[in-house]
Amino acid sequence: MTNKIALITGANKGIGLETARQLAQVGYHVIITGRNLEAVQKAAATFAADGLSAEALALDVTNSLSIAQAAEFVGRHHAHLDVLVNNAGIARDAADKAPSQQSLEVWRTTFDTNLFGLIEVTQAFLPLLRKSEAGRIVNVTSLLGSIAANLDATSPFYHAKIPAYNISKTAVNAWTVHLAYELRDTAMKVNSASPGFVKTDLHGMDAPLSPSEGARTSFQLATLPADGPTGSFFHEGEILPW
Ligand SMILES: NC(=O)c1ccc[n+]([C@@H]2O[C@H](COP(=O)([O-])OP(=O)(O)OC[C@H]3O[C@@H](n4cnc5c(N)ncnc54)[C@H](OP(=O)(O)O)[C@@H]3O)[C@@H](O)[C@H]2O)c1
Repeated sequence: MTNKIALITGANKGIGLETARQLAQVGYHVIITGRNLEAVQKAAATFAADGLSAEALALDVTNSLSIAQAAEFVGRHHAHLDVLVNNAGIARDAADKAPSQQSLEVWRTTFDTNLFGLIEVTQAFLPLLRKSEAGRIVNVTSLLGSIAANLDATSPFYHAKIPAYNISKTAVNAWTVHLAYELRDTAMKVNSASPGFVKTDLHGMDAPLSPSEGARTSFQLATLPADGPTGSFFHEGEILPW
């Protein structure tokens, strides 16, 4: 593969880092972004040591200037973007509080990163994605954002009511549907990825999946063929209920 470029947000660790690695391993040049430049530079250096094509770029998804500067940099150096993986995410809900008791600060902070940051990053990079022959946008959400799963008393996640986090992911799923509709007459594809329950700093280390396993859905959706789906919600090839 030549000249295919992928940018991953929140890629200094966890699922984002492994998504970048899997894309680099099949020949993409990966732009590893994160809010801490030193951390992304460290990650990119390990890729170079493994013979993978990578560069580090500062991108704080809650900072408009940082987003604009990152998009300007990528446009100046690469002129197009083939894959955008909106992976950065936070969970700030207080575990000991009911949905109605979470503070507004928690709601706002969570939505600033998980929803508004994701939308602003997408808006900033859309012109470069349009210059790709077949742009792919992957929005990393969660089964916890599925309204159907939240309603299903037989779901193993029925009691996992982490409201600001879950509902931010529900909103991103809805954004996926709306953006896919807007881009329906183009070669671009926009999908939501549920990584599964993954050992990372976000949800803890007692999860069953490794970050590498958790990256598989993002990788699959980033590398969809021309006849692949758009406007859907997946975990490892399986369509999930909204
Ligand atoms: N782990 C799971 O079981 C699981 C399940 C479903 C969905 N997810 C989703 O998977 C994605 C990756 O999470 P993870 O589990 O790999 O967690 P993680 O290891 O905590 O990684 C989260 C990444 O997001 C970055 N980030 C946070 N705020 C940011 C900001 N303002 N700008 C740029 N980057 C920012 C973090 O950077 P810092 O290092 O600077 O904090 C980190 O690189 C998230 O969207 C999460 O919701 C995870």
